Amino acid sequence: MLVVAPLGSKLLSPARMIVLGIETSCDETAAAVVDETRRIRSSVVLSQLAQHRPYGGVVPEVAARAHVEAIDLLARRALDEAGLDFADLDAIAATAGPGLIGGVMVGLTSAKAMALAAGKKLVAVNHLEGHALTARLTDDVAFPFLLLLVSGGHCQLLATEGVGRYRLLGTTIDDAAGEAFDKVAKLIGLGYPGGPAIEQAAKTGDPEAFDFPRPMKGRAGCDFSFSGLKTAVRHAVEALPKIDATVQADLAASFQAAVVEAIGDRARHALEAQPMPTLVVAGGVAANGALRAELERVAAAAGTRLVAPPLALCTDNAAMIAWAGIERLRLGLSDPLDVKPRARWPLDPSQVGRRV
Ligand code: KG4
Ligand code: ZN
Repeated sequence: MLVVAPLGSKLLSPARMIVLGIETSCDETAAAVVDETRRIRSSVVLSQLAQHRPYGGVVPEVAARAHVEAIDLLARRALDEAGLDFADLDAIAATAGPGLIGGVMVGLTSAKAMALAAGKKLVAVNHLEGHALTARLTDDVAFPFLLLLVSGGHCQLLATEGVGRYRLLGTTIDDAAGEAFDKVAKLIGLGYPGGPAIEQAAKTGDPEAFDFPRPMKGRAGCDFSFSGLKTAVRHAVEALPKIDATVQADLAASFQAAVVEAIGDRARHALEAQPMPTLVVAGGVAANGALRAELERVAAAAGTRLVAPPLALCTDNAAMIAWAGIERLRLGLSDPLDVKPRARWPLDPSQVGRRV
């Protein structure tokens, strides 16, 4: 019997790609299975926070060892949760940089072994491209869009014109935004990671209690800077006889207000210089509610739509890596098994060799 499927039904459509993603560039070991219909079939993230907390930051050697111990089991779990096996996959996509090189090597080498053993394609994904394309996974955002990438290692504004096509509009000249949150949290006696701790403490604090600078505000261009703000917080802390919970909350709220205003100003400049239909915010700091609210205002004033992926997809995860892999495979891009891991790997090809 001839089965005639209605137009657009699954029966008529070609097979959809399914990719296993692997992420090991910092302090999260992650594996996920995503398909071309933008469905996240599984996503598991194992945080190493407890291992790094005693040191007040990520220790590269500790991170690499923890990735080695977890990656095989995590990949297996992602497949099990998706109800799939290696044979069902089209490819394995792994972060190949930028990041802590020991961790990147663990993930990429594991992915190479899996690809070789299962006879599947390998896609070497730029971690930043994973963050950049997340909004296409979650919200099907069309190109071009303006990307604000704010994480522990990066703080950049990029005109995103297509897969692999990024133009850097601005970057930090010193610390990344998340780094600033983490360092200031330490200064004022809050735990690690600093971002969530500062946001929590700021809830009960007065954002006007301390008059901290808004670095780069009003300056031409779209570059960021946070070291002056960090120094201002340090001076304020040194001038205080003691820091009780109230002062701590005031410091957190005042710092957060300054960072948020500074980032908002840079995004405003970028949208003026390069009007775009959509502003996408990505990276761990995009989890910050005050920043999201400010970016909503900035976007609305510029007639632009703000897309902020759900929190679990803002911080490091492997679904974004699997999705970036799918986007590249759709363009016929995959990588040989001798592809190299890279500690530095700017999204904008004109920035290679610069610290961005
Ligand atoms: O993207 P991510 O998970 O890792 C990379 O750096 O690639 O970002 C982690 C950073 C940390 O610095 C953390 O303090 C910051 O994101 N972060 C936040 C918040 N949640 C995480 N910063 C501000 N507010 C938050 N709620
Ligand atoms: Zn990241």
